[in-house]
Amino acid sequence: MRQTAQTPEREPFVAHWSAKPDTELEWHTISDSQNYRRQRSSLRSKALSFACFLSLALLAHRFWPYLTSAVFSADSRLSVDEDSMCPQVSAISPSNYASLIDSLDEEYGTKEFKLKAYESLGAAVRIPTVCYDDLGTPEEDPRWKIFYDFHSYIEKRFPKVHATLQRTEVATYALVYHWQGADASLKPLLLAAHIDVVPTNDATDDDWINPPFSGYYDGEWIWGRGSCDYKPGVIGSMTAIETLLERGFKPTRSIILAYGIDEERGGLTGAAAIGEYLVKTYGKDSISMIVDEGGGYSDMGGTIFAAPAVAEKGYLDVRMDVLTPGGHSSRPPKHTGIGILAGVVTELEANPHVPELARDRTYYQSLQCRAKYDAAFPPDMRKLVLESQSSDEKLRELAKRLDDFDPAYSASAGTTQAIDIIYGGVKVNALPEAVYAIANHRIADHSSVSELQDRFTNIVAPVAAKYNMSLDAFGKTVGLEVPTWGLVKLSDAFASALEPAPVTPTTGSGPYELLSGTVLSTLKTNLRTDNPPDDAVVTPGL
Ligand SMILES: *[C@@H]1O[C@H](CO)[C@@H](O)[C@H](O)[C@H]1NC(C)=O
Repeated sequence: MRQTAQTPEREPFVAHWSAKPDTELEWHTISDSQNYRRQRSSLRSKALSFACFLSLALLAHRFWPYLTSAVFSADSRLSVDEDSMCPQVSAISPSNYASLIDSLDEEYGTKEFKLKAYESLGAAVRIPTVCYDDLGTPEEDPRWKIFYDFHSYIEKRFPKVHATLQRTEVATYALVYHWQGADASLKPLLLAAHIDVVPTNDATDDDWINPPFSGYYDGEWIWGRGSCDYKPGVIGSMTAIETLLERGFKPTRSIILAYGIDEERGGLTGAAAIGEYLVKTYGKDSISMIVDEGGGYSDMGGTIFAAPAVAEKGYLDVRMDVLTPGGHSSRPPKHTGIGILAGVVTELEANPHVPELARDRTYYQSLQCRAKYDAAFPPDMRKLVLESQSSDEKLRELAKRLDDFDPAYSASAGTTQAIDIIYGGVKVNALPEAVYAIANHRIADHSSVSELQDRFTNIVAPVAAKYNMSLDAFGKTVGLEVPTWGLVKLSDAFASALEPAPVTPTTGSGPYELLSGTVLSTLKTNLRTDNPPDDAVVTPGL
């Protein structure tokens, strides 16, 4: 998850898939008796994250021929109208490799294996691969060197992986592995993760129950930076491949692993170089499916809602500079730069972004899943969601109700605006000549950087005119050309603008169905929890 100094919060990442499904695939059913048998002997393990399970399961359950049929009977309480809501696929398991899967599941279910896997992750956490915003190039900045320790560690921990897969160092410290498949005509699968973690604040050292780089396993959790975000992605995929190699497995489809080194500052060095390397090595549109960090899962009354992120909002920090003539404050103008900036901020907050509820977007689709499968969803809201599928009037009514119903509604279905930084004034008897504020935005999936800039400009322009100020909006002069009292300047504060990501298709999409089916079979049949869910649902996440 990317975090920035300005916005230290969780941000979803996207699982992208780029190719059409393989039509020849067949799918396999897991019978209820098998589920029961497997669940009975299971052990609890919160310690490895969902991402790890996903990687393990995905590799274990994928890229062999399948047999198909339905697994979970449709919920009988649902009316016909609900059938099209939140479509679910059948759980998937590779039937041609049933004995391999059984043998893997058996090993993954043992205490020895689990402790070894926790230690694989714990030891990875103990290597402080910290990413700083101001890291220089890999050649010049010694702070990168710690990544070498991580390389040596995984080499030792996963010897078969390193004896079999071809490893390439990209931008010195990022890693790309290639596992050659038997059928070179199939586009490879790419599993991505990142090795870097965010630093800790020294002032909070004493607040940690277990130290941030301890990798300590307390019987339930593994502690420390990267134990969740996102060393499980590295350790999970390595562990899965190591155990497959121990059984002599050879993939039909090639598999690529790509591990970034500065995702926490936007992947400037790692992801950028990996992207170039992949295009150079494999060509454009050459990957069947990319699975990366993003999304999560929650337990709603016994039903697990797994929500792989299929969309990601855009990003923009707008800096508002207000530049006015200086002078002594014994003879002040009616409004100082601070007063004018306050006027701008007040106007922005008086005009918040309005969320948009649209049927083809991820938020609405995830709402449909909750309405259909969350037993605690209020019946009147469920009815409204149902009716909103075909009635525009009901859709508008639903949007109004969501303001109160879902605290996350406006942040999920709209662009957010938060004025987070303000600076100005140097001395109490001197007029402030240069003051500024910065507004942080997460741009809705249906919007864009330029749409946000235009809206921002339209709100600020009348305020600037009112105070007799020129306006430079993102490099363009807007409004007053005549001599003015001063200048209001809008700009991208940290050159970090990001368009919303293209949304991964979830209906009629082979890759999404493959991921969903694998998630379902993993959640419903694994030996790795003693608390199996009553049911599991996959919902598109944002
Ligand atoms: C705007 O400011 C300029 C420069 O101080 C001044 O010449 C002009 O008269 C002002 N216009 C208005 C409408 O206040």
